[in-house]
Amino acid sequence: MKDSFGRTIDYLRISLTDRCNLRCSYCMPREGVELTSHSEILSLEEVLRVSEIMAGLGIKKIRLTGGEPLLRKNLIWLVEKLGKIHGIEKLALTTNGIILKEMLPRLAGAGLKEVNISLDTLERENYQKITGSDSLMEVLAGIDAACEAGLKVKINCVPVKELNSSDLKELAALSKDREIDVRFIELMPLGCGRQYTHIPADEILKSLEEKYGEYEEITTGKEKSVASYVRFKDFKGKTGFITPLSHAFCSNCNRIRLSSEGFLKLCLAYDYGVDLRKMLRSTESDDEIADAVKKAVCLKPAAHAFNRENEGPEEKRNMNKIGG
Ligand code: GTP
Ligand code: 5AD
Ligand code: SF4
Repeated sequence: MKDSFGRTIDYLRISLTDRCNLRCSYCMPREGVELTSHSEILSLEEVLRVSEIMAGLGIKKIRLTGGEPLLRKNLIWLVEKLGKIHGIEKLALTTNGIILKEMLPRLAGAGLKEVNISLDTLERENYQKITGSDSLMEVLAGIDAACEAGLKVKINCVPVKELNSSDLKELAALSKDREIDVRFIELMPLGCGRQYTHIPADEILKSLEEKYGEYEEITTGKEKSVASYVRFKDFKGKTGFITPLSHAFCSNCNRIRLSSEGFLKLCLAYDYGVDLRKMLRSTESDDEIADAVKKAVCLKPAAHAFNRENEGPEEKRNMNKIGG
């Protein structure tokens, strides 16, 4: 599928639930979270049907996100089915890692090859402060289990001035002895994230260089990625930077998003899109849904406007509803 700016859209991110077993303070409010009711959330059969239609339109990669996708019942069934869709070349998952260890044998058995794990600090007390839960040990066990099972592991860290600025160097060292990639993501001003201050990627790279010395810039292969990577001397894994604020990558964007409620979102930053749930639950055929997707994709905005105040109908929802 091409959008109106000539960008090829071949990557679908599916949020399976807005529920999460953490409450990272830049992502979700600690209390008073309004959760979507079960009947409003797409069934796994509906998710599978949309995915099959999308594969027919040229989607090649699917990433499952949340909230916390591992909380979704019968996830293994879905992973197995999605992996077998003709045309889907890559199936990945983004998780906070807390229940990853116990689920890993079944996930790997179902064909999952890649996992991105969110982790903002290696300091146990600070982890509890940021997430509201004393679960650092479980996450670390999840990382170990994923590495041992031979999955490709990437760590996602969101550096936030008020929360974890002194913990980043230690976190980067996770890629020293193992082929794990550690990626630093600039905090985007969405939902709860608006109350905090992001740390520009260049500032982080500079402080890592002071600690770990020389690095080489890595050009990634043919796969499009929102991250740019370097490798520090003697590090087995890469260090990545996702820089929506300091170096926007929208002109290269290849993704669309399906919310747990079945809303097809065209850009992370805006509320534009089409309600596929309504179509899935009426008499519309696969072809009619495919047409609606193609039409919607033509409306994908050129870029976010995170750096420009008061411009456009920007997304007010929290990240747990969007899935990153
Ligand atoms: P890979 O496929 O492994 O490169 O992962 P990914 O970066 O696509 O997915 P992941 O779920 O690990 O996302 C990492 C971070 O990148 C999250 O904070 C996302 O919000 C952010 N991100 C992903 N896609 C986009 C995008 O299209 N625009 C912006 N601004 N941020 C994005
Ligand atoms: N900006 C950037 N990343 C965010 N995440 C959650 N909220 C934000 C935000 N406002 C990250 C999580 C997770 C990924 C899916 O999105 O930490 O790693
Ligand atoms: Fe949950 Fe991820 Fe949001 Fe943290 S960032 S509260 S792990 S959805």
